This record gives sequence, structure tokens and C-alpha cells, in this order.
Amino acid sequence: MLEVAGENLQSSVDTGVIDSSFTTESAYILPSDEPERQRLNEQSRFMTKAVFGGRLISAPSLTISPGDEILESATGTGIWLLDLAHQLPLTISLTGIDISTRLFPKPTTYPSNITFSSQSITDLPPSWSNRFTLINQRLLTGALSKPQWIQALTEIYRVLKPGGWIQFMETGPTPNAYSGAKMKRMVDSWALLYRARGLVPEIQDVLGQLISETGFIEMQKHIIPLPLSPRRDSSSLSDSELDHYEEHKKNIIGFFVAAKQPFLMAGLFKGEVEFDQALEEMREEWDGSEGCWWEWAIFYAKKPE
Ligand SMILES: C[S@@+](CC[C@H](N)C(=O)[O-])C[C@H]1O[C@@H](n2cnc3c(N)ncnc32)[C@H](O)[C@@H]1O
Repeated sequence: MLEVAGENLQSSVDTGVIDSSFTTESAYILPSDEPERQRLNEQSRFMTKAVFGGRLISAPSLTISPGDEILESATGTGIWLLDLAHQLPLTISLTGIDISTRLFPKPTTYPSNITFSSQSITDLPPSWSNRFTLINQRLLTGALSKPQWIQALTEIYRVLKPGGWIQFMETGPTPNAYSGAKMKRMVDSWALLYRARGLVPEIQDVLGQLISETGFIEMQKHIIPLPLSPRRDSSSLSDSELDHYEEHKKNIIGFFVAAKQPFLMAGLFKGEVEFDQALEEMREEWDGSEGCWWEWAIFYAKKPE
């Protein structure tokens, strides 16, 4: 539990039934249906465990006090906030925003200190200036162009309290190494798809600079490599790495399955059969390779006091 004013909160977490469809509000490439809800929830908990060492809040030297407000940008299913609500008292207000409301949980399933609202991170309400102590944001690489990233950071800076922190996690199709030709084909197609939509595949390489240029201070970037092959060079992974390997593989494959329609629409594969086969070949290539890791980037930064 997080240490906050000596209070704990237990809440029930459930999900609503939502229509299946792709969002049309932006270049965002993923669907917002029930399989996606499940994928995002599993992914969020895996990332908290494997990338953040089990901590929902890990921004350095951040103290949460009664009356503080926490914002999650691009909240999706709201799973990070729902999990966080179990660790915080009702005196902390939690707000989740997303351009799509389709994956928001049913209001009857979360406690009264959580609010979900339909907003773009590039255009937040004027009344929110200097309001939040922490802003959490994960995985917007598949949604924002470079000008939108700059606009989003400007808005995030505006609505953060002086002394407040951002906590971001991103990744993208720019690996340091490929397991072989099969992975290269899939990942290069991913980067092509992002570029065709005006997105920034290399966001994790440039985001730190964009954060600093916005005016944030004490910027920290941490790269967390997770395995995509069952062995490091000539030796086995540890038990926990092996555990991560299976879940991680499932996570990356799950992303491609969820994004299949945009890949096909972009003409990057002749059809579904070819796409499915290419994905399976990548999975087999990982299983037969050594030392293949995928990098996840965490960013922390503070708004000056
Ligand atoms: C890959 S999902 C990640 C969801 C959540 N952060 C998580 O880690 O489970 C990306 C989310 O960003 C949302 N999104 C896309 N563009 C956005 C924007 N301009 N402002 C706010 N949310 C946006 C999508 O609707 C989607 O829910």
C-alpha cells in the first residue's frame, strides 16, 4: 500500500460491456472493444510488475497528501486508476481522461474519488491549470504526431501543480536489435504504419528532449529491457526473467493482433493469412533465438516550484 495519511481504500473493480469498434477521433491505431479491454488490463498489470517493479507510483521524491489530485492521461480502461484507488484514501482525487469513452468502466464499479472524462490530452479545460500533483501517462506512441506531443506536453505542464511530477512510459518499433529477418519484417512494418499515420515511432528517443524543452526539470529516463527470447547469450534466463519472457511475448503479439486491421488497411501484408503467418514466424524466431530484448522507456520530470 502507498503511505497516504494512514488511510486505505478497498473498492470493487468490474467492467462494462462496450461496443466493438476502432476509434475514429485520431490517427490512433487500436480498437476499443472487449478483447482490447482485456488486453490493456493484462498489459497494464504486466508493465507495473515488470517495468515499474510493482509500483503504481514511482516518481522520485513525490509525496501524496490529503487533498491532492492525480490525473491519468489516455486512461483507456482506467485500470491504473482503479488499481491505485485500492492504495489511496478517498481524500485523494483521481481523474482519468481519454479521447474515447468506450473503455471507461461502469460508474457503479469504482469509488467516488475517481472521475472519468472525455478529453484530449492536447486540449484540457482552462480551469485545470496548476491542479494535479502527479500525471501518469502510458503508451500514447500510437496516437500522437510530433506537434501533438508538443501540445500535449504544454497542456500537461499547465495543469500540473508547481512541484508536481509526470510519470510516463513509452515504447516503439525502434529496437536495438532484431532476433532475425522475421522480427525485422514485423517491426519495420509497424514503423512504416506509424509513419504513414504521422506518428513518431522513435518517440522514446526524443521524448526526454521534448519534456525538457517544455520547461520540466529533473528529467530522468530509465530504459527497462524485457526479454523476447528464452536465453541470454549462451545461458538461460533466470526464473523471473523467463516468467517475464512468456508474458512479454504474449503482450507484443497481442499488440499486433489488436492492430491487425490497420496493418492490412495500409497494404503492408497481402491479407490476413500472410499477416498471421508472419506473426507466427516471428514468435518461432524469438523462441529459437538468444539475447533478444525489447526496451520500455520510463520518464519522470518535475514542474519547477
Ligand atoms: C495503448 S492505449 C493505453 C491505455 C492506458 N494508458 C494503458 O496503459 O492501459 C492508448 C489510449 O490513448 C487514448 N488516446 C489516443 N489519443 C488520445 C488523446 N489525444 N488524448 C487522450 N487519450 C488519447 C486511446 O483512446 C487509448 O485509450
